[in-house]
Parts: sequence; C-alpha cells; structure tokens
Amino acid sequence: MPGAPVVSSVRLRSPQLERLGDWDLRFVDFVHASRRDLSDALHDAQGLLIDSHVRADSALLELAPDLRALSTISVGTDHIDLVAASQRAVTVTHTPVLSDAVADLTLALILMTARRLGEAVDVVANGGWDDALLGTDLRSKTLLIVGFGRIGREVARRALGFKMHVCAFDARAESEEIAGVERVATLIDGLARADIVSLHVDLNPTTRHLIDGAALAAMKPTAFLINTSRGGVVDQRALTSALVEHRLGGAGLDVLEREPPGAAEPLLAMRNVVVLPHIGSATVETRRAMLDCAIDNLATCLRGEKCEHALA
Ligand code: DGY
Repeated sequence: MPGAPVVSSVRLRSPQLERLGDWDLRFVDFVHASRRDLSDALHDAQGLLIDSHVRADSALLELAPDLRALSTISVGTDHIDLVAASQRAVTVTHTPVLSDAVADLTLALILMTARRLGEAVDVVANGGWDDALLGTDLRSKTLLIVGFGRIGREVARRALGFKMHVCAFDARAESEEIAGVERVATLIDGLARADIVSLHVDLNPTTRHLIDGAALAAMKPTAFLINTSRGGVVDQRALTSALVEHRLGGAGLDVLEREPPGAAEPLLAMRNVVVLPHIGSATVETRRAMLDCAIDNLATCLRGEKCEHALA
C-alpha cells in the first residue's frame, strides 16, 4: 500500500529515490504546469520538495491543504511565504550545507574584481597580451563582511589567510566571534572604512535594498562590492548609477535582482563588473549534499520527528 503523497519539483534517481520510498512520490514540472495540474498534484500532498526556482507563495500553499512539510533544496528561503506556511502549520526546512562552496566563490569574485581577471581573460581571448593590467593587492586591505552567519564566517577565515583586515557587521546579537575579526558597530561605519564589501545576509523585508543609494554613497570610490547572497539585497539601479558615475571601483555579482537578466542589463557591459549566473553552491559535492540534506529533512518531518534544519 503506497504511503502518503509527496510532490517533488526535481526528478529523483537512485539512491535518493529509494530514500523517499515510504511515500507516494510524484514529480511535477512546476515551470510548465497549469494551475489545474498543480492543484491535481498537490490537493492531497503531505510533503513538498522544491528548489529555489519554485515560488511557494500563499496561492500555491492553498492548493495543498494537507501539507505538513516543505523542504527546499537551498539555504535561502525568500521564495517561500514563511508567514503563510506557519499559519498553515507547515514545517519549512532548508539546506545550510553550502557555506564552503559559497565562501570559495566569494573569494574568487574578490580576486576577479581586485585583479581584473575578467578583463585579462578577455584581452587574451581577443588575441591581445597586456602584462600591465594592474590590479589591487588584497594584503592589508579592509574587507567588510555584512552578515556574520555560517557563510560570512567562512569568508572571514579565507580572507584572513590573504592577510586582509577583516571587519564584520551583523545586526543579530548572537552571531559567533572569530579571532582576528573586528566587529563594527554600524553598517555605515563599516562601509566607509572598507576597500571591499561582501554581502552574506538572507533576503527578507529588513534586508531588501540594504545596500541602497545612501549605503553606496558611504563607500570609498575605489571600493568593490561583492554579492553572493541575493540580488534583492542591493538596489541595482543605485549600484548601476554609482558605477556609471565612478563613485565605486567595481562589483562582483553572483546574484541579480532579475535572474537571468535581460540582454540590455547595463551591468553586463561594464568593464569593472563581473557577473556570474548564481553558481555559489554549484559544485558536484555541494549540490549532492544539498539534495541529500533536503531529502533527509523531508523524511524526518514526515515521520513526525524534530528536524535540525527546520526554520523556527
Ligand atoms: C541557496 O541555496 O540559497 C542558493 O543561493 C541557491 O539558491
């Protein structure tokens, strides 16, 4: 007799498939499904496995009145209406197992912008050779980490290895200390002192456009902004103006307000801006770990057990 219905937005194969073998698993292509298809699939679902491309808003949750567990294969949960989920007593879980991969990519973006690696690759790819393409040393430069959670702390550990002076700002009182990292009292103080600013906060109503025109105006005109968190944390229009008007040295962005961007996105044409296609967690090992974690989270919740990755 099949177990309770569970819907997945990703096609699972062995061995992950077997780990949800106790349930009646259905795959749904959320991108192409009509509301009717979604309603048919979700009307009796008790569990839902999604990635960050699926918007789990209150309209979607309404289609799943029996839902008990929603497991996302991502650390970010800005695609989920957490208030609506909590009102419906749906447990939401996420996968905080990607800190090293995102921290590695953050350092890659810092190096790309500071050492002008995108420009250097372009020179050679276009048949040129320029060994006077001068960048900036990282040694002794001040890095401000905004958001000192798991990922921010991994970035700090790496940046200390590059002999940077590392500062951190976190609005949450409980965030852990790391030897050698200076805490700054206010975001604006940190922004004014930094040569490089790297963002590691969740996207939520309090962090949307945290880096707005005023924040950008507080930064040094030579500073670089690095964003591997969510595009919405930065007011992209304000960032574009700051770059066009040479009020900022450059930017390294793994995330944008609109993904993928339109072909006319001005940031894509800027020499001092590197844009990557949201690949912070995109390693074989990390993506596998995220999927395994999300499946374990879902199974744990469906068994009625306490899940360590459930959001409060
Ligand atoms: C995450 O896990 O939140 C990554 O940014 C992928 O969406």
